[in-house]
Amino acid sequence: AVERTFSIIKPDATARNLTGAINVVIEQAGLRIVAQKRVRMTRGEAETFYAVHKERPFFGELVEMMTSGPVVVQVLEGEGAVARYREIMGATNPASAADGTIRKLYAKSIGENSVHGSDSVDNAAIEIAQFFAGNEIVG
Ligand code: CMP
Repeated sequence: AVERTFSIIKPDATARNLTGAINVVIEQAGLRIVAQKRVRMTRGEAETFYAVHKERPFFGELVEMMTSGPVVVQVLEGEGAVARYREIMGATNPASAADGTIRKLYAKSIGENSVHGSDSVDNAAIEIAQFFAGNEIVG
């Protein structure tokens, strides 16, 4: 089925001017970027976005990292978009990511891992709604 997933190009990647390079990987994988904007996440937005991780030992570091610079938030659309994007992102830890994946190509570490992608269609809808109004998504 055609799905939508939510993507973040993280501060470690925007700092290295990798937005376009990452978008090339996304588009060449057959996903369409149907919404995109560059924003600076507030601490509150990052804490809300990652609320599921709030008991994890790395939560503070994660919020610091996500608010340390600009991010590019995106909605990606395509056949099986949730799984397809996870496939091209590669494993969370770039040391374990497959060749050709975004994280293998560009990520620096498990924390500075360049991109986020939703883990399910349901979470994608929640995450998209946190950052985009309906009329900002043009399919
Ligand atoms: P993401 O897909 O954005 O979802 C949660 C994030 O937590 C994950 O990518 C990683 O960047 C980050 N993360 C996971 N494990 C660790 C860790 N051990 N140390 C720091 N950050 C982590």
